[in-house]
Amino acid sequence: MGTKITILIDNTPDAAGTLQCEKGLSLYIENGPQRILCDTGLSGAFSDNAAALGIDISAVDCCFISHAHADHSGGLKRFVDINRDSNIYIAAEALHTRYFSHRHMSARDLSIDFDVANSNTDRFRALHYSTWLSENVAAVFCNDDSHARPLGNKYLTKMSGSTELPDDFAHEMSLAITVGDELVVVSSCSHCGAANIIEACKAFSGKSKLRAFVGGLHFIDSNETSSEVEKLVTYVEKQARQAKFFVGHCTGDLAKAILSRHEQFCTFATGDIISI
Ligand SMILES: [Fe+2]
Ligand SMILES: [Fe+2]
Repeated sequence: MGTKITILIDNTPDAAGTLQCEKGLSLYIENGPQRILCDTGLSGAFSDNAAALGIDISAVDCCFISHAHADHSGGLKRFVDINRDSNIYIAAEALHTRYFSHRHMSARDLSIDFDVANSNTDRFRALHYSTWLSENVAAVFCNDDSHARPLGNKYLTKMSGSTELPDDFAHEMSLAITVGDELVVVSSCSHCGAANIIEACKAFSGKSKLRAFVGGLHFIDSNETSSEVEKLVTYVEKQARQAKFFVGHCTGDLAKAILSRHEQFCTFATGDIISI
């Protein structure tokens, strides 16, 4: 049994230009009979694209929000309006914490829409620990810090009471999907570092062989991008030589250009279908 992932929305437009595109991510995952929505993009446009692709969001049976940031949680209002019964899994911290980006001069609030969460408390499932959502899908917090985290995290903060602190990404989770003896990791932004996240997913799932990684790498373009990317490539060559990496969203143009020289990596765009 394989897993099929449709990119409902991404920073990169579809080749035909018929779908909406935004700086955000939303993935529709068909895993056997399960229909999982991983993130809701920035605006709710993910649902328009889903309709155009013949995907029924009202039939999603599990909504997973990878982390608080608005480019992943911004479409939650649209989701609860369309889908009336699925649980929405999110890290507990995201439900009561404000997050900011300082990357472009003025501070940008990246928190979730608290009104949606507060008016749908029966549907939100606040997670404190890594948890199996079904027999072969787990929501995994990253408890591994042996590898570097993306340098782009330096622009991101969270509030603790009235104090603004560097974000530690306690609100970030990834999906670990087991396929037979192998593992598929879906990690939307990888703020905790893709290598750390993969190792955390291996440890929690008990599956040591990575089949595929799908997500964003948060290597925002800078002078340090190539050394950041090469560290990941070194890890992949040592620990995940057999795996395929499908990268998009916040991976960054420079990182994508470097990664495209490596056979194991390919990029995704809005509307793409990844069959694993
Ligand atoms: Fe993101
Ligand atoms: Fe993010």
